[in-house]
Amino acid sequence: YVIGIDLGTSAVKALLVDKNGTVAAEATRSYPLFHERSGWSEQRADDWVEATLESIRELVTSGSVDASAVEGISFSGQMHGLVLLDVGGSPVRNAILWNDTRTTEQCREIERTLGDKLLSITRNPALEGFTLPKMLWVRQYEPQSFEKAVTFLLPKDYVRYRLTGELHMDYSDAAGTLLLDVAGKKWSEEVLAAFGLPASLCPPLVESHGMVGTLLPEAAKRSGLSESTKVFAGGADNACGAIGSGILSEGLTLCSIGTSGVILSYEKDESSDYKGKVHFFNHGKENAFYAMGVTLAAGYSLSWFKKTFAPNESFDQLLSGVGDVKPGAGGLLFTPYLVGERTPHADSAIRASFIGVDGSHERIHFARAVMEGITFSLGESVHMLRSAGKSIDKIVSIGGGAQNPVWLQMQADIFDATVVSLENEQGPGLGAAMLAAYGCGWFDSLEACAKQFVKYADEYKPQPEAVKTYKDLFAIYQQIYTQTRGMNE
Ligand code: XUL
Repeated sequence: YVIGIDLGTSAVKALLVDKNGTVAAEATRSYPLFHERSGWSEQRADDWVEATLESIRELVTSGSVDASAVEGISFSGQMHGLVLLDVGGSPVRNAILWNDTRTTEQCREIERTLGDKLLSITRNPALEGFTLPKMLWVRQYEPQSFEKAVTFLLPKDYVRYRLTGELHMDYSDAAGTLLLDVAGKKWSEEVLAAFGLPASLCPPLVESHGMVGTLLPEAAKRSGLSESTKVFAGGADNACGAIGSGILSEGLTLCSIGTSGVILSYEKDESSDYKGKVHFFNHGKENAFYAMGVTLAAGYSLSWFKKTFAPNESFDQLLSGVGDVKPGAGGLLFTPYLVGERTPHADSAIRASFIGVDGSHERIHFARAVMEGITFSLGESVHMLRSAGKSIDKIVSIGGGAQNPVWLQMQADIFDATVVSLENEQGPGLGAAMLAAYGCGWFDSLEACAKQFVKYADEYKPQPEAVKTYKDLFAIYQQIYTQTRGMNE
């Protein structure tokens, strides 16, 4: 067996996977999020460690497996979160997460300081969610914490550090820090020097399937695993989502709708140039990359809608009948900018809208409009990739958006591409398990592992009439941003 740990924003999920790729057991533990001020989002790094150890313990004590049969373990992690460690290896403050938007001022400083180098070295724009702006924020506003910091890690790297005692970061996660020379696969001395940051802050870089050690006695005791369990670096949640969905060759694209949503397209090398309009990160597969657009409030928009308008119903109840409303939700349009937007606007101040409300609309029209709005926002990323010359014909859909056939058909129609779902989808945790399986030598490539582990299910083809309806609406959808920008400033 191998274990894949998916360290998410609201919970950690641990999967126990056998050599056929079958999930034998799974366990989840949640942890709190702290929003001390509007736009702030933090977590206690030690909560992740506790939750991870408890979830592994549940897997190995569930009776289905002998701990010594677990050969390896690896990780998928929420990206970008800043964990600063003091000389004793303890966090100097709470971790600041990917969805925290306090760093607009630092992003402008990064743009001014680096100019064109920002894109040529890091391949990405300066966005509030990324790690370097968070580091500059802590240095500016909490110098006493920053002075104590000798190393920085990302969320899953901290958990792995506490399990093994070894400090590392893999390329796919390091790519989201703005400190990595993405194509050169090394920490950028130029970027570090431009901000007066010592290179010693950055941990050693490794491949996602690279073995970083075995378990510390204490971690073995608490998790119930054997000390000889091999620990592999793992990757960013989006890279692991891609691996777990078989996005390992040119021509394949992923649509993942969780709290945030992403459109992610495989890149065989570093040569594509999207001019910073989409993210460009290292893949968890060695020497490959991916281009990605992000919708900040994807599943979050639907959860907000349910919490506000149907607090006592399940998602199934809320969405039953959504397929009876025709594409276009009776003229109702929604933009999902509840917490700002990443792609294509990189605007943390913009807020959401409903437009076109008619006296005959019922709650179900609003529910459909929310689903369509989320999908239009992801459609902007598909559109951007296509305009830069990428061909997108087949999209693997995972996450909340893949659990509802109406939503899958909607994706096919809005993206104007064939959309395919997975059998027994497990999300990024399976990608993490695949990295461990490959690292353990069960397969001689991630592709070979995917052949065994990843199984495609239903296919949804775009319906010409709906494609046309959505194309017309998309043109109006795109104008809502321009017309409402500045309203909340
Ligand atoms: C990607 C991003 C999110 C997080 C969610 O850039 O910020 O998708 O990775 O965990």
